[in-house]
Amino acid sequence: MRHANHRAVWRNLTGMFPHPYTRADADSWIVTAQADARSLHLAIALDDEVIGGIGAIAGSGIAVATADFGYWLGEALWGRGLASAAVLAFKAHLLRSGRFARLQAGVFAWNPASMRVLEKAGFVREGVLRHSVTKDGALIDSVMYACTAA
Ligand SMILES: CC(C)(COP(=O)(O)OP(=O)(O)OC[C@H]1O[C@@H](n2cnc3c(N)ncnc32)[C@H](O)[C@@H]1OP(=O)(O)O)[C@@H](O)C(=O)NCCC(=O)NCCS
Repeated sequence: MRHANHRAVWRNLTGMFPHPYTRADADSWIVTAQADARSLHLAIALDDEVIGGIGAIAGSGIAVATADFGYWLGEALWGRGLASAAVLAFKAHLLRSGRFARLQAGVFAWNPASMRVLEKAGFVREGVLRHSVTKDGALIDSVMYACTAA
């Protein structure tokens, strides 16, 4: 809760992530994380403290082999390479498990740090989805990044 309850985190995530982030939101995230068998939601921990989250939300129908890949870290921990390490490890785990053929992440145009994290982890910039996101009162582009198992 302490790390999640920041505008700068919320501003870069989808509507699934609330702000302010309350105790009830944290409890409901834990229920969600345990309920969905195909998706995978993990905490990012440093020593014994939860400092963020990382997840892969399974697609359905024709997108059954695709997962939407997302992550966040408490603002106090930014700039230390922690997200890069988590993304690299989680990506390797997901692809090794054979769970998904494709991992994709739509990054908001104002978030170059996240683009860099994905590029370092071997995700490929596939294109710009113009005016695809309405966030924080603005209509903005997002950039699609993806990696495939083969
Ligand atoms: C995006 C986020 C996960 C990055 O976490 P982090 O632990 O600070 O990331 P890292 O330290 O591993 O790497 C950040 C990289 O971006 C670079 N970077 C940071 N700010 C940048 C900027 N304004 N422009 C370009 N690159 C930037 C850093 O230099 C670093 O690259 P390097 O290792 O080559 O030097 C974190 O800022 C966050 O949680 N933001 C809010 C939620 C979010 O954006 N989630 C992702 C949604 S797609």
